[in-house]
Amino acid sequence: MADEPLVLGIETSCDETGVGIVRGTTLLADAVASSVNDHARFGGVVPEIASRAHLEAMVPTIQRALDTAGISARDLDGIAVTAGPGLAGALLVGVSAAKAYAWALDKPLYGVNHLASHICVDQLEHGRLPEPTMALLVSGGHSSLLLTTDITTDVRPLGATIDDAAGEAFDKVARVLGLGFPGGPIVDRTAREGDRKAIRFPRGLSGPKDPEFDFSFSGLKTSVARWVEAKRRAGEEVPVADVAASFQEAVTDVLTRKAIKACQQHGVDHLMIGGGVAANSRLRAMAEQRCERAGIRLRVPRPGLCTDNGAMVAALGAEMVWRDRAPSALDLSADSSLPVTEVSVPGHQHGDVHGEAYRALES
Ligand code: KG4
Ligand code: ZN
Repeated sequence: MADEPLVLGIETSCDETGVGIVRGTTLLADAVASSVNDHARFGGVVPEIASRAHLEAMVPTIQRALDTAGISARDLDGIAVTAGPGLAGALLVGVSAAKAYAWALDKPLYGVNHLASHICVDQLEHGRLPEPTMALLVSGGHSSLLLTTDITTDVRPLGATIDDAAGEAFDKVARVLGLGFPGGPIVDRTAREGDRKAIRFPRGLSGPKDPEFDFSFSGLKTSVARWVEAKRRAGEEVPVADVAASFQEAVTDVLTRKAIKACQQHGVDHLMIGGGVAANSRLRAMAEQRCERAGIRLRVPRPGLCTDNGAMVAALGAEMVWRDRAPSALDLSADSSLPVTEVSVPGHQHGDVHGEAYRALES
């Protein structure tokens, strides 16, 4: 629909420079420049390298997104940007760019939460989120169960990981198995050749007295490392595909079981799965099976929209505009540990977005 807001979103919280353009819930462009290969030899993301890469990729990626969408920046109704959580230096590049464009084009600026964006992106594929929706958010930095009744204002955490994030566990297990970085996609591929019942790895925090909706993956990771080490010490060949499949089974088993339980306990019949790990083929298949059995409607975006991208930021920005939420001031700061409950950074009133910033500069 032509009257739906046209928003550009910028994502730079980790190693992907993402720029997306959406109109309402329709995706028009999703340009991503990744520095993942620059980090591979270090076995993890190096913040300084990521920041430098964002700086170099920012303007060309914005231009590419505008060209793909076939629009001029002047047509935009707003500019959204990930204000946190994430790597401080990396976030700063995106926030600075968004401010510069908002200032120069005289457009409202929306500093939004990365985690809420991972949920909102599903609107680009499956239409507006039902209210309430349960979200299982699983990425390299987060593993949380979130209940949302309005994605622009109300995201309530029910539980989260007490140690490693699910994606982090995938990355570490991949390292133990010598599979490379980032581990998630490689473990996923390798596991397809393996027997997921070969080894019974522990399911963290699944006892009757454990917190119902929290996760723990550190014990599982250690257990995999010990198992592999014992095989190597005994001079035996490590069945890499079986280990990958059995590890993946343990992670996806806990994630789906807890997510469905959270839906049932809170009387929510829609489950959304987002974040990089939602790209995992076994998680998607298991969630589908278990949700069907439990009478829960499952929504998972396609893998390309699960990993970090700019479209998810644009999706949340467009929703903010559509619901007439207040934009952020131009003195917005990046917050590397922005709490999940803060969907957007506190904004100022419409019509005075830039005035506030001018006054702040003058005082
Ligand atoms: O959401 P994301 O792109 O960045 C963060 O915000 O963290 O998630 C990245 C994480 C990495 O740990 C990566 O290994 C994991 O998502 N990942 C996967 C798959 N694709 C990416 N994990 C399991 N299976 C996959 N297919
Ligand atoms: Zn992410």
